[in-house]
Amino acid sequence: MSVCSFCLRAMAYMETVRSLRIAILVMTVILVVEPALGSFMVEKNSLTVITPKSLKGTYQSAIGNFGVPQYGGTLSGVIVYSTVNLKGCDKFPDDYFRSKPGAWPNFALIDRGDCYFSTKVWNAQQAGAAAVLVADDKHEDLITMDSPEEDPSASQYLQKISIPSALIEKKFGDSLKKALSDKEFISMKLDWRESLPHPDDRVEYEFWTNSNDECGPKCDAQVEFVRNFKGVAQILERGGYTQFTPHYITWYCPQAFIESKQCKSQCINNGRYCAPDPEKDFNKGYDGKQVVTENLRQLCVFKVANESNPRQPWKWWDYVTDFQIRCRMKDNRYGPECAEEVIKSLNIDVDKVRKCMGDPNADADNDLLKHEQEAQVGSGVRGDVTILPTLGINQRQYRGKLDKTAVLKAICSGYQETADPPVCLSDTVETNECVDNNGGCWERGSVTACKDTFRGRVCQCPLIDGVQFEGDGYTHCEAHGPERCKVDNGGCWEETRLGVHHSACHGHHHHHGCHCPWGFEGNASRVEGGCVDVDECSRKLKCQCPECKCTNTWGSYKCECSGDLLYFHQHDTCINQKGAQSETAGWVVSLIVLAGISVLGLGSYVVYKYRLRTYMDSEIRAIMAQYMPLDSQSEIQNHSRDDVI
Ligand SMILES: *[C@@H]1O[C@H](CO)[C@@H](O)[C@H](O)[C@H]1NC(C)=O
Repeated sequence: MSVCSFCLRAMAYMETVRSLRIAILVMTVILVVEPALGSFMVEKNSLTVITPKSLKGTYQSAIGNFGVPQYGGTLSGVIVYSTVNLKGCDKFPDDYFRSKPGAWPNFALIDRGDCYFSTKVWNAQQAGAAAVLVADDKHEDLITMDSPEEDPSASQYLQKISIPSALIEKKFGDSLKKALSDKEFISMKLDWRESLPHPDDRVEYEFWTNSNDECGPKCDAQVEFVRNFKGVAQILERGGYTQFTPHYITWYCPQAFIESKQCKSQCINNGRYCAPDPEKDFNKGYDGKQVVTENLRQLCVFKVANESNPRQPWKWWDYVTDFQIRCRMKDNRYGPECAEEVIKSLNIDVDKVRKCMGDPNADADNDLLKHEQEAQVGSGVRGDVTILPTLGINQRQYRGKLDKTAVLKAICSGYQETADPPVCLSDTVETNECVDNNGGCWERGSVTACKDTFRGRVCQCPLIDGVQFEGDGYTHCEAHGPERCKVDNGGCWEETRLGVHHSACHGHHHHHGCHCPWGFEGNASRVEGGCVDVDECSRKLKCQCPECKCTNTWGSYKCECSGDLLYFHQHDTCINQKGAQSETAGWVVSLIVLAGISVLGLGSYVVYKYRLRTYMDSEIRAIMAQYMPLDSQSEIQNHSRDDVI
C-alpha cells in the first residue's frame, strides 16, 4: 500500500488513535522507515436500550482502550447527562453520577471534544459514574478512543481508570439527549458477551510488543503487565488452555534510503527490518538496530522453546521478564551478552537461538521477521496492529487497560460456556516453576532465591532465620549483618578435625565474603574447593633455622629445636634456655619499649604493657609445650595464630 493513503487515514485518526504517533513519528523524524499497514479495526460492544420505548433496540459502540471493559459480562444502568461541563473536561461536583443505594448504576453521557477521552472518563469515574458513553461530535464511523501516549499528567490517573467506556455515534447521542430533554428515563444494557468469539475450549491469543524499555509510561505499563500476567499466562499455557504467540512490530526501510545513515543505524538485514531509535536521537544511547535485534532474539527464544522437546513455549514469559529486570537500557546492560546469560539461566539452547537469528548483516530475508511483517497487516476480522502494545484474543483486538485482572477476564470470556479453566475462577495458583533448574535463580545448598508466587516465579534473595540475603537474585545473593554465619555458615568453608574447628566466615558487621583463616588458603567458598592447609614447612615459611625441625599440622605447624635449645615462637628461631632466653627477650623488649614510648607516647605504652603480658604468657606456654609434647598441639596452633594478628 502507498504511504499517502496511510497518511490520510492516520490524520483522520490522529486525535484518537494516539499510538499511531509511533508510526507517524518514525515517518516524520526519520522520514524513511515505513510501517506496513492495512486496515484498522474498531472493537465493539453492543448496547441495548431498554427504555424508553421510542429508543428501544440495539446499537453499536466502540470500546475505549483504557479502563476495564466487562468482557464476557453485561452492565445495566441509567443515562445521566450533565447540563454544565458537557464535555467533561473539568471535574464534576462530588458524587454527581453516584447512584443511590439499591438503584441502578449511572452511566455518564459526555460530549466528544476539547480534551483527552481518558480525562473525561476519569472525571466521571471520580464523580461516581459506573460507565461512560462519549457521544461523537461528527457523523462518521466509530473509532477507538485511545489513551494519550506521552502526557505525564495523564499517566498518573490512566492506571486508576477502572470503569468501562465506549464511543457512540453522533446520531444516537443526539437522540439520547433529545429523550433526556423530554424528561424520559433512559435505561440500557452494555453487553460485552459477544465482543470476543468463544467457539471452543482453547483460546488463541497474541501479544504485540517491543523489547524497547525506554519509551515512557506506555512501555512502563507494558513491562508491568508482562511481569504481573506471567504467572497466569504460564498456568494457562501449561494446562493447554491457551495457545499464546508473541509478536513484534517491525518496520522496513524503503529501497531508496537503504544507504542512509538513518536506515543503517535503525535496521538490520540491509534495511529489511527496522525499529525506531529508542531515544529518537541517532547520536546517543541505543539504536533502533539493537532494538530490532533484541526483538528478533525474543522471537527466537519463543520459537526454540516452543519447538524444544518437551515443548515449553511459556518460557518466553520468563525470558522477557528476566531480560527486563537484568538487561535494562538504563543500566547499560541491554544487549547480546546479558541476553545470552538470561537464556542460559533458563536452560534454553543458546546455539539454537543464535542459529534462528541468523546474520543481521546479511542482505537476506529472515523468515521470522518477514512473517512478523506480514502478520501485522490485518487479516480477516482482526485488523492491523497499530496500537502498541496490542493484545489479540481469538482473532480480535483486546480493548481496555493492560491489567492482569482485566486481561484475564477477557481471555476467560473467550471459552465456550462451561469450558473455563479453573484459573478463570481463581488466580491464586502456584506455578511450581522452581522445580525446574531452580527457575534460573541463584541457589546454594538449601538456600534459594526462587519463589513460587501466583505471579509466576520470581528470583529474589531470601530472608532466612532473620538473616537477609542481598544481591540480584540471579547470579548472587549474600548474607549480611553480624548473624550472617548462622545460615549455612554464610556459604563459607568450615571444617573440624580432631576437635579443632576452622571457619572461613567472620560474623562482624564490616565483614563480607569468605576468607580462609591463617594457615589456610583457597577460595574459602563452601561449594568451590574451600580452604586447604598451607604447608609452612615445605614452603619454607616458618621454622627454617639450622637447629629447627619443622612438622606441618592442619592449619598450623610444629617446630622443635635440636639439643637444649628452645623454639622462640615470636622470632621463629631456636634459642638457649634460661639465660639466653631472658637476655634476648629482655634486649628485644627494651628496644621495642624505647621505640614504643618515643613514637606512640604514653597511650600506646599502656597498650604495649598489655600486649607484653600476653606475649610473655604465650611465650611461657610455648616453652612449656616443648616439655609436654602430648598436650602441645592445639596450644601451639593457637599460639601461632596469635602471632599474626
Ligand atoms: C508452537 O508450537 C505449536 C505446536 O507444535 C504450533 O502449532 C505453533 O504454530 C507454534 N508456534 C509458533 C509461533 O511457531
